[in-house]
Amino acid sequence: MKIQKLSKIYDGKSKILYKTNDPKILVLEFKQDISKFNGKYIKKFEKKDIINNKFSYFIMNKLAKKNIQTHVISLFSENQTLVKNLKMFPIECVIRNYASGSIVKRFNLEERSFLNPPILEIYLKNDSLGDPIINETHCITFKLINSKHLENIKKTTIYINYILQKLFFRSELILIDFKLEFGLFNGILTLGDEFSLDNSRVWEKKTFKKMDKDIFRDNLNYDIVECYQKVAEKIGCFI
Ligand code: C5P
Repeated sequence: MKIQKLSKIYDGKSKILYKTNDPKILVLEFKQDISKFNGKYIKKFEKKDIINNKFSYFIMNKLAKKNIQTHVISLFSENQTLVKNLKMFPIECVIRNYASGSIVKRFNLEERSFLNPPILEIYLKNDSLGDPIINETHCITFKLINSKHLENIKKTTIYINYILQKLFFRSELILIDFKLEFGLFNGILTLGDEFSLDNSRVWEKKTFKKMDKDIFRDNLNYDIVECYQKVAEKIGCFI
């Protein structure tokens, strides 16, 4: 059956989801927009949609080769991917190898402190509450996810971090931290959402130059799209 893109079902800060003529398949479209302050400030960057689509597709395929279930099916266009229609858990899983961003303020750490073993955090996915950090008891008591799936998400995130840390390191880059979201497809735990430089921190190994969304968050005076493209090329993803 040829997949046809139908109506929009979700319009987010950086991505749009569309239904298709197959209820098990969606079209995930990447936007040129980047937002900060919880969507209060948005700016468009030409080509960012194409880079993020291809970058995320590339990373998800690398993970699939290591037996991680992901929602990716195939590229649909330059800025769209066909994905499995997951039942998403309302949580975000962040893993940190070095201190940067919110953890620096929360624990008064020196930026770039090595976090060994990596720190794993769970956040409630709720924009109006500002995505508060939660623990396993919130997950269980609020019935966000059961303990079996949560354990599986934690193990999978640690394994993904192991794979990606090596991939980036080989490419003269350091993977500082990233955020993942998971869901179920036919009852199987599956990685959803995206992996891009919008939801990860990546620095150049030699110079510690920030190559990710922090360029926009922190108003750094160099070109964000050039950096996204450079990281993609370094890891072998040619746009
Ligand atoms: O802001 P913070 O330091 O907690 O972010 C940790 C990591 O999670 C960063 O890579 C950031 O880009 C990502 N993140 C995200 N979406 C959020 C919160 C954090 O992609 N809502």
